[in-house]
Amino acid sequence: MSTEHTFEEELPTRKATVRLARRVAGLVRPGDLVLLEGPLGAGKTFFARAMLRALGVPASVPVPSPTFALVHRYEGAGRAVLHADLYRLRDEANPLASARALALREDREDGAILLVEWGAGLEGALGGAAEGTLVFDRALEPRRVRVRFPSR
Ligand SMILES: Nc1ncnc2c1ncn2[C@@H]1O[C@H](COP(=O)(O)OP(=O)(O)OP(=O)(O)O)[C@@H](O)[C@H]1O
Ligand SMILES: [Mg+2]
Repeated sequence: MSTEHTFEEELPTRKATVRLARRVAGLVRPGDLVLLEGPLGAGKTFFARAMLRALGVPASVPVPSPTFALVHRYEGAGRAVLHADLYRLRDEANPLASARALALREDREDGAILLVEWGAGLEGALGGAAEGTLVFDRALEPRRVRVRFPSR
């Protein structure tokens, strides 16, 4: 089923990804978990940066990939937005416990929006099922993305 909030889109240019981020920013609510999925280099961080801008994080605030810190915290128009990359947790003995230790569930309960790369399978440590999932695919030309916000 395809609805206004569950759709597939081509992303031929970075500008198209920025436009998509603005659209998705209009969908999210405080406390939402949004999973950004897809292989290395698929455009998850690029999308997260564009979405942070759309949520009000000024251009003067750098948005680097959270590869080393795992989680970066931003303030966008009065609401906290957390950007995480949990790729490295996959090598841990207990990825779920490691993810739980980041206390993102508590941030989410406090109303923070969570944008999480490589978070699939770790939802249990992130406060439960995601409200939104975007799966980026760069294997095809042009790139494309599948967006799902099933309850919106
Ligand atoms: N249409 C597009 N949308 C997004 N990124 C694009 C697009 N076209 C080219 N790019 C480029 O693709 C790269 C995507 O890298 P990005 O760091 O966002 O990937 P990633 O999915 O976060 O990878 P990783 O899993 O390593 O974190 C960027 O260099 C970006 O400029
Ligand atoms: Mg990334």
